[in-house]
Amino acid sequence: METILELHNLTKHFVQKGTFGSIVSTTEVPEVTVSPVGKKIVRPAVTRKESLVHAVDGVTFSVREGENLGLVGESGCGKTTLCRCIVRLIEPTGGRIIFRGQDILKLRSREMREMRRKMQYVFQNPSNALTPRMKIRTILEEPIRNFNLVHGKTELLSRLDELIGLVGLSREVLDKGPHELSQGMKQRVCLARALATNPELCVLDEPTSALDVSVGAKIIDLLEQLQKELGTTYILVAHDLSVVRQVCPRVAVMYLGRIVEAGPIDDLFSKAAHPYTQALISAVSIPDPEIRREEIRLKGEPPSPVNLPRGCRLSPRCSHSMERCRVEEPELVELEGDHYVACHLFLK
Ligand SMILES: Nc1ncnc2c1ncn2[C@@H]1O[C@H](COP(=O)(O)OP(=O)(O)OP(=O)(O)O)[C@@H](O)[C@H]1O
Ligand SMILES: [Mg+2]
Repeated sequence: METILELHNLTKHFVQKGTFGSIVSTTEVPEVTVSPVGKKIVRPAVTRKESLVHAVDGVTFSVREGENLGLVGESGCGKTTLCRCIVRLIEPTGGRIIFRGQDILKLRSREMREMRRKMQYVFQNPSNALTPRMKIRTILEEPIRNFNLVHGKTELLSRLDELIGLVGLSREVLDKGPHELSQGMKQRVCLARALATNPELCVLDEPTSALDVSVGAKIIDLLEQLQKELGTTYILVAHDLSVVRQVCPRVAVMYLGRIVEAGPIDDLFSKAAHPYTQALISAVSIPDPEIRREEIRLKGEPPSPVNLPRGCRLSPRCSHSMERCRVEEPELVELEGDHYVACHLFLK
């Protein structure tokens, strides 16, 4: 299987202005700043009234064509920031993003435009993702027109019919506005809009979190069916592992801006190595009452990405924490075939 996407040491830091946690404003941090004497400073200068939010802090992973990757982790760990960096909705602070062998951070705006056709992003909340006063027809036409994907009106109309049918909605929906649709229908429209450009990679940011459980389950079924028909590769973000299990053969677990474990989903369920993954898995409900699993609880709350703990980021909450964990940050290393972990319990 060909690698479609590689991330190398990707970082995204924000400068947060304000004191005592009150955010006054935030700015994006340039990768390299130049001091008045012309010396390059890689880390940005942060004044006393500013702090640095390490939203994404050195992420490395790859995605193979047709092999969906699930990205899981608790709220605030940096999933949305990472996804937005991947499609360059925001500029990363550092690192590399290689799509089909090309470093997309080096592309000029014209080349990046073509890349945008190949990589699509579905926003976390469908209600915020659709312009309120636009008809669904106009919303779906936009990407088709922008990328000149059809010739003439007849072709456009039949493409719209095709797209709306693909996501299981009727043609009448095209003449409605977003406010006339349910949350589930809005999410289907968002999917149709993303698929309008025939993308090779679709980054889906928690496509079910704003939906009722049963509606969310139908969206996951739809994603599975669409992939069979269209062959698009997904990066699917979710809070918990049970959502990604159905459509993602591989999964990456994120904690405070870093990947702590990645590998085949079955390996993660049967032999999770990282204490954080073990805790996530123990919280997934199992339908079989015969199987009993004890829930592993982590101590305390996740620390803020502003004041990161020294050493392993999980160490203040981890019951296995050793001296080394409190001083040295563990690297992500291969445990066995395609299964990676960043934990001192497994490092020599
Ligand atoms: N523009 C910004 N300025 C400052 N901090 C930000 C900005 N965007 C995100 N953050 C911070 O970066 C961290 C990661 O946020 P992000 O939204 O990526 O997390 P997430 O994993 O997607 O969370 P959720 O599951 O709740 O959607 C959080 O601490 C958040 O407050
Ligand atoms: Mg998010």
